[in-house]
Amino acid sequence: MKYDTILVLDFGGQYCHLIGRRIRENGVYSEIVPYDIKVEEIMQLNKRFHVKGLIFSGGPASVYDFKAPKPDPHILEMKLPILGLCYGHQLIARMAGGKVEPAPQKEFGIAYVTIDKPVGVLKGLGRKEKVWMSHGDTVFTISQEYEVLAHSGNCPVAAFKHKNKPIYGLQWHPEVTHTENGMQMLRNFIFEVCKCKPNWKMENLIEKMVDEIKADVGDGKAIIALSGGIDSSVATVLASKAIGENLTAVFVDHGFMRENEPEFVKETFGKFKLNLVVAEVQERFLSKLKGVVDPEKKRKIIGEEFIRVFEEIANEIGAEYFIQGTIYPDRIESGFRKFSDKIKTHHNVAGLPTKIEFKKIVEPLRDLYKDEVRKVANILGLPKEIVFRQPFPGPGLAVRVIGGLTKEKVEIVKKADLIVREEIEKSGLKENLWQYFAVLTDTKATGVKGDARAYGYVVAVRIVESREAMTASFAKIPYEVLEKISTRITNEIPEVARVVYDITHKPPATIEWE
Ligand code: XMP
Repeated sequence: MKYDTILVLDFGGQYCHLIGRRIRENGVYSEIVPYDIKVEEIMQLNKRFHVKGLIFSGGPASVYDFKAPKPDPHILEMKLPILGLCYGHQLIARMAGGKVEPAPQKEFGIAYVTIDKPVGVLKGLGRKEKVWMSHGDTVFTISQEYEVLAHSGNCPVAAFKHKNKPIYGLQWHPEVTHTENGMQMLRNFIFEVCKCKPNWKMENLIEKMVDEIKADVGDGKAIIALSGGIDSSVATVLASKAIGENLTAVFVDHGFMRENEPEFVKETFGKFKLNLVVAEVQERFLSKLKGVVDPEKKRKIIGEEFIRVFEEIANEIGAEYFIQGTIYPDRIESGFRKFSDKIKTHHNVAGLPTKIEFKKIVEPLRDLYKDEVRKVANILGLPKEIVFRQPFPGPGLAVRVIGGLTKEKVEIVKKADLIVREEIEKSGLKENLWQYFAVLTDTKATGVKGDARAYGYVVAVRIVESREAMTASFAKIPYEVLEKISTRITNEIPEVARVVYDITHKPPATIEWE
């Protein structure tokens, strides 16, 4: 079956993928394609999809730039409905001979536009609409063949429509939630203007991703680093569906995973058709880290050793293809990554820089957002422990034992971590929390256990709320829950004499202690 499809031409806008995602949320398939896609290529795509409309995305260029990206000029003659957004809006206006110039004032943020004619894409909207603008150039006039549908104080042609063809332009971004009725505008385009039928489901995307992996890998052998996190887990299951035993999933047990995690991964993925290799390299990691106290050095050693283990296995099995669970936000230079990379060397299993030359790196989840990956995970039947797993750093508990690592210390933090997890999960607070864990500090303190003086470790409990990990607030957990955690840790772990709660936001602190 061919799905009704909207193609989004990518002019380099930061919200481009969001447009595709909003359309899919409405049950209509959407693909992001390069801005210079040729008419013939669209016809070619029509063999697989039923292309019903095009969206020209925003982009950072000015239509006057020497190198301003331009679409195939014949595209406007295809009789397909077109919606230009921001740069796309200016581009259509300019291609049709309108006057587009730098505005006296650049506009960024919330703006109010007056809807002069609520038709087509703007059907059913009020006289004043709250929208999200982000542009330097402005359309001042548009050719006779077009009519103006909306204006604002700074923008005489904030929305337009061709008089006889289904071609529209909006200066603002309907795809971002700040545009109050943005979804309505997009729905108008896909259902009213393009007459799409909502005949696409997430399940169809699974089929497509599996087919793509099959096509990429063929009869070759592929390898994936499986961490037990949601992205690599979903990519593993998709690849297993696609190539079965030609897939080797490598789970590197460096000894810094949480309690039961390696067993859980083995059990969960043992059920799928694939080769699961669990590299038991706990001793190897511990010996490399012996006496290392500096957090950055610890991270570096763990990251490098991880890659070496992975390479050894890839060489052994002769893997030619490398599959990774990279998702869309990993590919953009997000603020989160830029920000945190300056502070710590992040080691993430996705994006391994190996010395091996693979024939191809296959990234089935490359266009998806996290919550879409969660939906896919649910459909694939992955356990909820994976679907809703809290973020866990690549170096694992090694960065939650402050200072030098020993087996004993890792065991202590493992036990404390399990208690924090159990109590938070029992309390029902989990939904609103970003992360909750224990840190074993390198401080010892005096206590009294029974009648005797005790001298033991200080464990810190770190529980934070956050949206993207760029900033975080310590969570204001009820005292009863903290009390339960503290009592259990000191009772159940004899080596611990004291528990403290970390009440520092990020910034100035980071979420992890190292
Ligand atoms: P920080 O400590 O920098 O952490 O505030 C921000 C978020 O990133 C996680 N984190 C990591 N994730 N590899 C990862 O994949 C790493 O090396 C790493 N270090 C920290 C951390 O748990 C928090 O969610």
